[in-house]
Amino acid sequence: MERSVNYLTFALGKGRLANKTMELLEEIGISCEEMRDKESRKLIFVNEDLKLRFFLAKGPDVPTYVEYGAADIGVVGKDTILEEDRRNYEVLDLKFGKCKMCVCGPKEAGDLLLHHEMIRVATKYPHIAKDYFYNRKQQTVDIIKLNGSIELAPIVGLSDVIVDIVETGSTLRENGLVVLEEICDLSARMIVNQVSMRMESERINQLIKDLKERL
Ligand code: PRP
Repeated sequence: MERSVNYLTFALGKGRLANKTMELLEEIGISCEEMRDKESRKLIFVNEDLKLRFFLAKGPDVPTYVEYGAADIGVVGKDTILEEDRRNYEVLDLKFGKCKMCVCGPKEAGDLLLHHEMIRVATKYPHIAKDYFYNRKQQTVDIIKLNGSIELAPIVGLSDVIVDIVETGSTLRENGLVVLEEICDLSARMIVNQVSMRMESERINQLIKDLKERL
């Protein structure tokens, strides 16, 4: 009797990340016609021939879907992986979406970082900020969680500094802020569910190998 092949399911961070991922997968012969319709509000797409499924999720939810096995594979930014801190394997740096996690603020705030002062830090990434200040710098700070436009915080006096993503640096420049310290490099990464990595090792390793040859 023919063994039935399971679907391999991908969770992709909605938006630019998902588009770039599909471009990359197409280069190794994996496409999904159904996904090309940009007007569509559909959330899940299937490639019957290759037995693949793709779904789009909010970036921060991707590691959750993968940890619980609702997806075998996820593509998401390193920032999200660090912030969510889920039990998945990070298997590949996809080399796009490159940027840096930084401590930023007005130039004068640089002094506050040198003297271990109790400062206020606004961020969308409280876990990353806490790890950086408490564990790496041994500085006690007050972390304020925001959901976007983080650069506003030091301008309107909500915080002394911010922990945020810097890509081109133009948001900082246009708002009179600078990078004060670099925390880490970021880019899109592929993550894999720990059980899937064992159960579907052949297909997943082949996929990783094919992608590596293109990167
Ligand atoms: C991100 C980030 C910065 C900006 C950095 O924000 O939080 O604000 O991009 O990019 P730049 O260095 O090229 O200017 P995003 O546009 O994702 O929106 P957000 O403010 O809602 O987080």
